[in-house]
Amino acid sequence: MLRLAVFVSGRGSNLVSIYNSVPDNKAKIVAVVSNKPDCPAIEFAKQKNIDVFFISEKEKTGFVNYNQLADRLAELKVNLIVLAGFLKKIPDNFIDHFENKIINIHPALLPSFGGAGMYGMNVHNAVWKSGSKVSGATIHFVDKIYDHGRIIYQKKVDISDAGSPEEIAAKVLKIEHEILPYVVLKFSENKIKIIDDKILIE
Ligand code: GRF
Repeated sequence: MLRLAVFVSGRGSNLVSIYNSVPDNKAKIVAVVSNKPDCPAIEFAKQKNIDVFFISEKEKTGFVNYNQLADRLAELKVNLIVLAGFLKKIPDNFIDHFENKIINIHPALLPSFGGAGMYGMNVHNAVWKSGSKVSGATIHFVDKIYDHGRIIYQKKVDISDAGSPEEIAAKVLKIEHEILPYVVLKFSENKIKIIDDKILIE
């Protein structure tokens, strides 16, 4: 059984899509972690009685730091961390601690349209400006460089008829809600293998 921690900073639609689409006997969201205590994603987690943790690299009342968070997640026997719209860079030692156990969803086809500053509407605005006729979503392992870790899964979407960056965002979000539960399910079935630095999904 997969025990998930989902890291969020805002709307939480990907959190909801995992919650609603992955069967309970395959994966359970046991923690939601956020740098923002007041956001719709945290509201959702509280409604569903999921443990929530607020994270800060600085000492702050009501927040844990990354060492404390690693301990809490170990106590909860978390074996996969999903970054779903989490806007803070994860410190290197936390990434080392959870090597190959942290995945991220990015709202474009990496390695294009990624890197520092490429989040939210910045991504879709850049895709719009580029004149690309396709976009999509990418799920990848998290390493120490923004949007750089090994790609696990991608799906593209035709955006040739999109009339604005917002329309691109809506099309991509639909794809995100399909592929994130799919990949989580594959992890729960142990069907994601790392072979010679490539990811194979069985
Ligand atoms: C998604 O587009 C995701 O790809 C990106 O941030 C957005 C989060 O949306 N990393 P939501 O909070 O899951 O609704």
